[in-house]
Amino acid sequence: MSKMISGFSKLTKEEKINWLATNYFTDQTEIISTIKKYWNSDELLQQLHDDFIENTISNFYLPYGVAPNFLINNTSYTIPMVIEESSVVAAASLVAKFWSTRGGFKAEVLSTTKIGQVHFMYDGDKSELIQYFNSKKELFKIATASITKNMEKRGGGILDIQLIDKTEKLSNYYQIHVTFETVDSMGANFINSCLEAIAKEFRSDAVEIVMSILSNYVPECLVRAEVSCTIEELGGKNPQQFAKKFHQAVQIASVEPHRAVTHNKGIMNGIDAVVLATGNDFRAIEAGVHAYASRSGHYTSLTHCEITNGVFRFWIEVPLAVGTVGGLTSLHPLAKLSLGMLQQPSAKELMMIMATAGLAQNFAALRALTTKGIQHGHMKMHLMNILNQLGANDQEKTVIANYFEGKTVTHSAVVDKFEEIRNTK
Ligand code: MEV
Repeated sequence: MSKMISGFSKLTKEEKINWLATNYFTDQTEIISTIKKYWNSDELLQQLHDDFIENTISNFYLPYGVAPNFLINNTSYTIPMVIEESSVVAAASLVAKFWSTRGGFKAEVLSTTKIGQVHFMYDGDKSELIQYFNSKKELFKIATASITKNMEKRGGGILDIQLIDKTEKLSNYYQIHVTFETVDSMGANFINSCLEAIAKEFRSDAVEIVMSILSNYVPECLVRAEVSCTIEELGGKNPQQFAKKFHQAVQIASVEPHRAVTHNKGIMNGIDAVVLATGNDFRAIEAGVHAYASRSGHYTSLTHCEITNGVFRFWIEVPLAVGTVGGLTSLHPLAKLSLGMLQQPSAKELMMIMATAGLAQNFAALRALTTKGIQHGHMKMHLMNILNQLGANDQEKTVIANYFEGKTVTHSAVVDKFEEIRNTK
């Protein structure tokens, strides 16, 4: 049977599901039932989600957790996190508590501007192009006035428009490079609309516009979060040794790309979870963050560590173009709830919260990796999941957890131990 179809988007939701079930599955009843199990019984809410994208057939749930006890610039937060990976929320919560008794996290936004570009080709005289561009500068303002009006009221708008010669990289290639401030919105629609209006104004027989689009590379939309304390305050059996190994781990990530990618992935466990929970665009964030991590031409760590005069300092600098108004942030009821939980943050505050979540996650990962190893925590979680499946009570859980301390957790070994304990009762 042909699996090609035309006019799929015009089918009703039921018809789409039936087509899928018939063409791709043998057990159609079960497939249809799984798809429908995830429909929301509140029809309006379901319609809202159906309308976010095209060809919607169901919803795909991700767990929504919270990490309390974050102290950021002396304000306490419970951070909402949407992520499917176990241990991330637990790690964030533990690290939040740890640093809350050591002065908390200090964060600051270093810059907030974003970039958009009109890419075009021109093979004439460069001085004529410059003249033409200068003659258009005031007209760009008029062409974008209706779009920028509201943004200007909120303190944003177009900050700068420049002509850039890129002909050394690609013959005849130039750009109109526009700098924006979008205040509390991520600003993608605003930026793209301004760019298209500028491109329309700039169009001429001599200029061939190729495209107009924002850039997700936002090195000037930068936030920094940090923690610090004396080495002694780090606590544990041997804080000197801990600080030294931790510092070495960060140094390794800064010189070794294979490690840096995993190191930064752990950071993104924290950042993406908050990005998702607040209805922001995680693909944009990911693209921008990793480009920033490679800005020197060498992929490196997003976090840094320093030990001077007995003081341990650990910080992150990361570009985060996020919004707290517009887009999904105001449409998705759970994104709204997340922003409510964070006390309706401005985009700058949200940048600081996300950077903190990333730093906390990296602290947790490096602490585990340089001490007990990463599998220790994972195995504990794995063990608890198995015991929950088996229906173990609290006492059985404690006995079995003690038994597996330092041992490898496998499903069959846990079942054997569980049965042994039950049968000897
Ligand atoms: C796993 O999701 C993240 C870690 O691999 C991060 C790291 O290695 O730093 C634990």
